[in-house]
Amino acid sequence: MATHTFKVNGETVTVEAGDTERVLWVLRDLLGVRGPKYGCGINVCKACTSHINGKAFNPCAVQVKDLTEDDEVTTIEGLPATVGKDLHPMQEAWLEYDVAQCGYCQPGQIMAAVAKVNQARSEGKEIDDSVLDEIRNVCRCGTYFRIREAIAAGAAKM
Ligand code: FES
Ligand code: FES
Repeated sequence: MATHTFKVNGETVTVEAGDTERVLWVLRDLLGVRGPKYGCGINVCKACTSHINGKAFNPCAVQVKDLTEDDEVTTIEGLPATVGKDLHPMQEAWLEYDVAQCGYCQPGQIMAAVAKVNQARSEGKEIDDSVLDEIRNVCRCGTYFRIREAIAAGAAKM
């Protein structure tokens, strides 16, 4: 066990965990932050997608020892605060388009969508199909068409 300090959703946290403990389990089991979902644990399904320093990452594939005190992890729970509202525009679009079916993949889908829109804009790209094709989050319920409609609507309000 070792002590690890980093930021989660705007707060500095310190946890006791083995160096190789994956950040997903630190979030879910030690910190009670359960928005990031467990699907595969091997960086494939993307159900755990969250942000690190504003960029999408998959905490199931990152060891806690690789986080530093300056690293800011944002999960779906902390997304609204990044825009100072009760809901992020992408979450509002998700509701408007009634995207979720079982819902399991949806926190990761929204976090991936926000990161991808921000990344594309920082690179001067339009939010088109080629950009959206880069999102690899799996939805076993097949909500992909509604996801794309919602991303377009959410991006327009970001
Ligand atoms: S649980 Fe993290 S990518 Fe599948
Ligand atoms: S809504 Fe069920 S897995 Fe995506």
